[in-house]
Amino acid sequence: MTTNSSAIKLTDQHVLGNYRRFPIALSKGKGMYVWDESGNKYLDFVAGIAVDALGHCHPDIVKAIKQQAGTLMHVSNLYHIPRQAELARQLTRHCFADKVFFCNSGTEANEAAIKLARKVMFDRGQPKRIEIITTLASFHGRTLGALSATGQNKMKQGFGPMLPGFKHVPFGDLKAIEKSITSKTCAVMIEPVQGETGVNTASKNFFQNLKRLCKKKKVLLIFDEVQTGMGRTGHLFAHQGIGMKPDIMTLAKGLGGGMPIGALLTTDELAASLGPGTHGTTFGGNPLACASALAVLKIISAKSFLKQVRDKGIFFKKELQKLGDRHAVIKKIRGEGLMIGVDLTLPTPAVSTECLRRGALVNAIAPHTLRFIPPLIATRKDIEKLISILEKSIVSVMKETGSS
Ligand SMILES: Cc1ncc(COP(=O)(O)O)c(C=O)c1O
Repeated sequence: MTTNSSAIKLTDQHVLGNYRRFPIALSKGKGMYVWDESGNKYLDFVAGIAVDALGHCHPDIVKAIKQQAGTLMHVSNLYHIPRQAELARQLTRHCFADKVFFCNSGTEANEAAIKLARKVMFDRGQPKRIEIITTLASFHGRTLGALSATGQNKMKQGFGPMLPGFKHVPFGDLKAIEKSITSKTCAVMIEPVQGETGVNTASKNFFQNLKRLCKKKKVLLIFDEVQTGMGRTGHLFAHQGIGMKPDIMTLAKGLGGGMPIGALLTTDELAASLGPGTHGTTFGGNPLACASALAVLKIISAKSFLKQVRDKGIFFKKELQKLGDRHAVIKKIRGEGLMIGVDLTLPTPAVSTECLRRGALVNAIAPHTLRFIPPLIATRKDIEKLISILEKSIVSVMKETGSS
């Protein structure tokens, strides 16, 4: 690990300081690994925060992007775009949705979902139904609508006023949701697994009952699958693993395999509320991003690929459990597929810094929680290697903090 990088100095001088960064500058990637400017190699269990679903520079993605870049990169949605149309066809083929709106990020996909939910109620002659129920400790993005939906006050400080019309209830608490639904409610918006606050899960039963409740109350159910979508949980979309269908789903992160792209998916009936001129974005669904997403989807949607993600997730959790048996610092292991959270008694920023020193990227998502969101191509060997680095790092932090 080195701090001798001109990129770090330039970042400090010229890039807005809204990110807390590790003191390395990454300049190359291949498969499960990234390299910094000094040539140090790191096993990547962060994957650009669940974006590099097929690892770095996957040959099929590189080929698709190269081909598309030499053919057509951008034209605008004033025209039909063959790659966009094909991606929409493939995505809808694989889930409940009939229609797709493309954008560039998760927050934008959620903005579209919020607007769609309100517009549907408006079109149904119920314009007062504007409220959306979301959960505490949720994360839906940083733009003002998605931030208002987000259930974390610390992110909102200084940016008020938030958009009116959001109620936050505890995650996994069906009774609290039921109590919050009024004649003003238009939707419930929820992540199948809360990724940004520690990989918090809820039972299948909860989600299935939530679906029933929303149907009964004629309230729309929005699933924010920005992080859980595209195979992350071992199902192409997490709701498929739960065994129910939302009315609206949002995607981003893994969809482009590294290219920025987001999407909202919904039924024909609801999609009718966003007719010409109601919503849009310049870059959304551009041929380059769509070509990349098509290459990603082709690989990830294979049943055998998804089964491997589930199997590797189980293997990973078992290895973490064994690590916990060797060192009594692991309090809890949770998650689905290759989206795993581990609570430690140790300070996780220190553990992740030690991992970095030893050549592995892991994410300290909370002061005592590590999150693992590796590329879905991670092998059992990669997982074993990560566990070995993690163990050494844990032992080192135990010594430092006098916990051994
Ligand atoms: C569940 C969820 N929704 C929305 C977002 C926001 O996505 P983006 O950062 O692409 O705007 C994230 C990002 O971490 C997320 O995890």
